[in-house]
Amino acid sequence: MAASKPKPVVKSKSKDNIIVTAALPYANGPIHIGHLLEYIQADIYSRFLKLTGKNALYICASDMHGTPVEVNARKVGKEPEQFALELWKEHQQDFVSYLINFDNYYKTHSPENKEISEFFYRTLKHAGHIYRKKVQVIYCQNCKRYLPDRYVKGICPYCKALEQYGDVCEKCSKALKGVELIEPKCSLCGKTPIQKESEHYFFKLSLFAKKLQKWFSAPKSRIQPEVKNWLNEWMKKGLEDWCISRDAPYFGFEIPDSEKETGDKKYFYVWLDAPIGYISSTKNYTDAHGQKWDDYWKKGQVEHFIGKDIAYFHFLFWPAMLMAVGIPLPKLTVHGFITVNGEKMSKSRGTFFTAKDFLKLYNPEALRFYYAYHLNRSLVDVDINFEDMKSVVNTVLVGNLSNFCYRVLMFAEKNYGEVDIIAKDKKLIDEVKVLVKEIHKNYSEMDFRLALRNILKISDIGNIYFQKAEPWKNPNSKESKAVVGLCVALARNLAILVSPILPEFSRKVAVAFWDDISSWNWKLGGWVWKGKLAPVEMLADKIEKVPEAQQFPLRLVVGKIMEVKNHPNADSLYLMKVDLSGGVGMKQVVAGLKKYLKPEELQGKKAVFCANMKPAKLRGEMSEAMILAAGDEQKVAPLFVAKSEIGEEVCFESMTNSTAEVTFEEFSQLKIIVIEGKVVYEGKKLKTRSEEVSVAGVKEGARVR
Ligand code: 2FM
Ligand code: ZN
Repeated sequence: MAASKPKPVVKSKSKDNIIVTAALPYANGPIHIGHLLEYIQADIYSRFLKLTGKNALYICASDMHGTPVEVNARKVGKEPEQFALELWKEHQQDFVSYLINFDNYYKTHSPENKEISEFFYRTLKHAGHIYRKKVQVIYCQNCKRYLPDRYVKGICPYCKALEQYGDVCEKCSKALKGVELIEPKCSLCGKTPIQKESEHYFFKLSLFAKKLQKWFSAPKSRIQPEVKNWLNEWMKKGLEDWCISRDAPYFGFEIPDSEKETGDKKYFYVWLDAPIGYISSTKNYTDAHGQKWDDYWKKGQVEHFIGKDIAYFHFLFWPAMLMAVGIPLPKLTVHGFITVNGEKMSKSRGTFFTAKDFLKLYNPEALRFYYAYHLNRSLVDVDINFEDMKSVVNTVLVGNLSNFCYRVLMFAEKNYGEVDIIAKDKKLIDEVKVLVKEIHKNYSEMDFRLALRNILKISDIGNIYFQKAEPWKNPNSKESKAVVGLCVALARNLAILVSPILPEFSRKVAVAFWDDISSWNWKLGGWVWKGKLAPVEMLADKIEKVPEAQQFPLRLVVGKIMEVKNHPNADSLYLMKVDLSGGVGMKQVVAGLKKYLKPEELQGKKAVFCANMKPAKLRGEMSEAMILAAGDEQKVAPLFVAKSEIGEEVCFESMTNSTAEVTFEEFSQLKIIVIEGKVVYEGKKLKTRSEEVSVAGVKEGARVR
């Protein structure tokens, strides 16, 4: 993405040269509204820096390397590079549509990144910070690949929870290694992998413990208190050296001399070259603009914005690498997660909104405003509650800020077409001046929430002043003209102040002044502007509707069949013990499947169960849930799932499950059928987070019961 306007020439040593970054998104799937929190946060900050005359560059890139990109590319029959490049382009369009103004959006699979990654590696190696060691790794003979921890599933060795990934147990939160899992399975093919020995490269992170501690204990490093606590915890546990290599097949940069040294090609682990991507994207920009990247990285200042999930990489590995190559350490701001209606975003609950989905419903500035309204430099999670968003947008953005600016600009243009006199209301002006200073401080401290509250105080002042003066009663009087002149000045000040948050809103206001927004800066506010006005466009849109997910009357959940026995009193029935996990737990299920399936065809399998059935006694045995199966008299096929987790909600597209109890009769009235091997209700497919539920071998249109 090329910069839209020429940058000032960089002074050789200047604290005003600032790099702002947001984490490099994986080129592996769509940008969603959760991602956008950080891109908007860093965008607001970099826009503020530019507005106040700093030579700031907002730098980002696609993170293209690693196993998930490679595996997903293969799944769709593409080469990883091609696959990643397509997403690189798509992500840029998404960012532009949210007015995120990167000065450069580059990619980690680039010559600059290769060169700088190798420079880091050679410097570390030369200084004796790299060593080789043979370690046990997991290898799937069926897939013919080494499996990263995230690609192995098995039983947690600590709490014995089933179906845990090899990197962390979601039940007991312990960090794991894939080789520690009990009964490991390859998550790609389900086969049991083997352990192998492989020689790998390690970075001596432990050598940097003292220096890191000193860095983050210094007040000027401005580390958020919660983060400092984590860092102290991690330090207490002790820093392990970091494995920076991966075996082929891997989409990444080959480690120089690795084949000679280990007998096999090894690649840099994605997390080695990803943060280096911050530098290489800067270099890609500075090379094209006749500047030097070290004018920013060595003589200026770097501000990273990241989510709390990647703190370990950015507060330990990355600074240690920077120390080793002699680059000053960055400042970091960590934000919390995004929830939608109080819960993790979920496709099956219909609360997963891609950047594009959201724009089908709302204006991008609604999201920018809503995020800014909630964002300060704390780590609290931000909840997108659509009702709350509607009320914030309609009453605050539209009802207060936009209403004031639009109303006075329209009034002034219609009645006078210009401003040639401004009321001298010293009290009002002084009050606003104090607020402007505050707002500057709020932005500098990344407290956008407070900045916005103070901006809104100014539009409150303006609304009250305009309302009280009632210029419409006698528009042609000198007093009215002067009052309106002052209100126009207030609107101009407001548009400048809010421009980091609402660039499009401010652009429209600038047009009313016959101005180009790119020429605006913080100092252009004030109380002296006189001149011709242009008609003003609508500045912000109201939210009319919140998305509502249609309720489906059943609660469908993934369960694992732990035990299958014959029913003591009925020839056609099985008695099963099913683990539905989470809030549901272990249930007894009576199922009429004996005619169609052997116990071993059920035992150990995962399938879709209805968990809100009214418990009923069937031939003397309690049935507390129901297994869903498709078919007719000849063939019955349970709705088995492979990739989904026990306890996971299974929903029809864009619907939510209901938890209210249902009877068997109510259940039988629902017309759930099989179409082209998929389970469908009212034209919507049944899905979990990771797969569409499918059934094979039953007739088209077969009922699910
Ligand atoms: O967690 C992620 O999405 C990574 N792609 C972030 C990388 S940030 C930086 F280190 F490159
Ligand atoms: Zn496999």
